[in-house]
Amino acid sequence: MDNLGQLVDEAQAAFAAAGDGAALEQAKARFLGKNGLVTEQLKALGKLAPDEKRERGAAVNRAKAAIEAALDAHRERLREAALDAQLAAERLDVSLPGRGAMPGGLHPVSRTLERIERLLHSIGFAVADGPEIETDWHNFTALNVPPNHPARSMQDTFFLEGRNDVLLRTHTSPVQIRAMLAHAERHSALDVMPDLRIIAPGRVYRVDSDATHSPMFHQVEGLWVGERVSFADLKGIVGDFLRKFFETEELQVRFRPSFFPFTEPSAEIDVAFMSGALEGHWLEVAGCGMVHPNVLRSGNIDPERYTGFAFGFGPDRLAMLRYGVNDLRLFFEGDLRFLSQFR
Ligand code: DAH
Repeated sequence: MDNLGQLVDEAQAAFAAAGDGAALEQAKARFLGKNGLVTEQLKALGKLAPDEKRERGAAVNRAKAAIEAALDAHRERLREAALDAQLAAERLDVSLPGRGAMPGGLHPVSRTLERIERLLHSIGFAVADGPEIETDWHNFTALNVPPNHPARSMQDTFFLEGRNDVLLRTHTSPVQIRAMLAHAERHSALDVMPDLRIIAPGRVYRVDSDATHSPMFHQVEGLWVGERVSFADLKGIVGDFLRKFFETEELQVRFRPSFFPFTEPSAEIDVAFMSGALEGHWLEVAGCGMVHPNVLRSGNIDPERYTGFAFGFGPDRLAMLRYGVNDLRLFFEGDLRFLSQFR
């Protein structure tokens, strides 16, 4: 009879010694399994006389219950220990300082575009846009560059595969056409069309790549059409804009006669700084001119009544000059060592 008490003690000791769930299950099998020590005791009951059997049976069942209770208690102990270990491992020290945020920043070209937009917006230019996949008509024909005209070779064009009527726009000038058509339509019921004053910043594409050319680059188109818009207005506005952009009154601005199919007369705009590393060098920053009558006509605007000027700036070039960057490709390689300097 006292061997039952010993059995319970042994079981308790075995359960207590089990360090994890698997060891505990093994210990359980030793006592409660099919051939376990408790089961043996139950089987042995069969050989006893009825009286003895009742008494012994009750004692064996009490021992079995005690062992099962001990097993449950140790299971619970192991479960709690595992939870404690997990909580300790995942402990979060809320008093530690943060890892530090990695602040992003605007790309230098985006900064430049924003700056150009802000300056020109302040003198009444609204921002217009158009698609980068453009029709041949908007990109060339409507801008007074008919099919097969040699001026098309001034801009080496990406066409879309299998089509010759759509292309990646080679300049932002097609936005002039879209803006004029929309403006003319909007004000068609009026006797006098109000002035159209827009800039169109955006990406343009040409088959071209070296230190100062990238197959994708940016332009900012400008257009002012109205009843008495003159070349003098163009000079005044562009000169003011450039001096504000570079934050210096000491900037020389030169209009050098040139050719563009969409303007007549046409000019290229050069700037020269009067101090600094680039002092005395003339640098081309834009093309411009008075909008060609054929272009006004493409935009449904009467060239007998209205005149306009247009310009096309290279903001990438402006950003290079403003920040002293000597290779255009740096802007578009996405190297954080370069870009993070502009944060
Ligand atoms: N579209 C021209 C180019 O990409 C730039 C240009 C020249 C735009 C004269 C104009 C302009 O609006 O009047 O080369």
